[in-house]
Amino acid sequence: MQRLDGKRALITGAARGIGLEFARAYLAEGARVALGDINIDAARQAADALGQGAIAVRLDVTDQASIDACVAEVEGAFGGIDILVNNAALFSAAPIADITRADYDRIFAVNVAGTLFTMQAVARGMIARGQGGKIINMASQAGRRGEALVAVYCASKAGVISLTQSAGLNLIAHGINVNAIAPGVVDGEHWDGVDAFFAKYEGKAPGQKKREVGEAVPFGRMGTAADLTGMAIFLASSEADYIVAQTYNVDGGNWMS
Ligand SMILES: NC(=O)c1ccc[n+]([C@@H]2O[C@H](COP(=O)([O-])OP(=O)(O)OC[C@H]3O[C@@H](n4cnc5c(N)ncnc54)[C@H](O)[C@@H]3O)[C@@H](O)[C@H]2O)c1
Repeated sequence: MQRLDGKRALITGAARGIGLEFARAYLAEGARVALGDINIDAARQAADALGQGAIAVRLDVTDQASIDACVAEVEGAFGGIDILVNNAALFSAAPIADITRADYDRIFAVNVAGTLFTMQAVARGMIARGQGGKIINMASQAGRRGEALVAVYCASKAGVISLTQSAGLNLIAHGINVNAIAPGVVDGEHWDGVDAFFAKYEGKAPGQKKREVGEAVPFGRMGTAADLTGMAIFLASSEADYIVAQTYNVDGGNWMS
């Protein structure tokens, strides 16, 4: 008996990185998994590589029609959704004086509105089926504390933590557990982009910021997507039935709360 036997999961932004690693982990625990991503070609390739039990679904979390179509497609394919991981997100960085309204709108549309309205669409189905469910939102250590050059992303992830609290309190009445994971610094394509931002604004050499943040982690290195799967499986499983509206740090000791 595996921990997610027979469960049906939708993971947003699962074409690569942490979402893709979660998809692999959920499949290994007996779930079927839909990889929702705006990059549908990469999602299809990833689903094909994962094999039986994985499907790719086109999803733009900034577009309500796309959210509704994706959720309907996954519910049609699997007969319902038991687990949602709101993982899709964008990063940006700039000094306060350089932040543009367009960038703020773009980041909040994906990270905050995307999380809220995908959660809403999936929760409606969970409520209608009456069997509860698990929703896991991807927050960040960036949501725990502001950073001088990362105001918009930090505020968006603080928003995810707050949405997790409110939705968790509201949806537990329907047996739906809403919780969040706050990773620290996780190596991968996302952090290649972060490194490039800091190279631009702090004059660092490529790779330098990554080295610095890795050395600063109490555990002694950057995280990997695989470091997060234990928490992702746990929060999606019945072992987490009594856990409501929490955000768990999985960050090698970077943040304590
Ligand atoms: N990597 C880290 O260090 C780190 C740290 C803390 C939190 N996180 C969070 O973990 C999650 C995953 O991070 P990652 O490193 O795998 O990121 P990533 O950039 O590698 O992957 C993000 C995925 O989201 C997809 N996406 C972007 N916009 C979308 C949209 N509008 N609709 C649907 N999909 C969209 C992308 O195509 C991509 O596949 C994010 O929420 C991120 O903020 C990451």
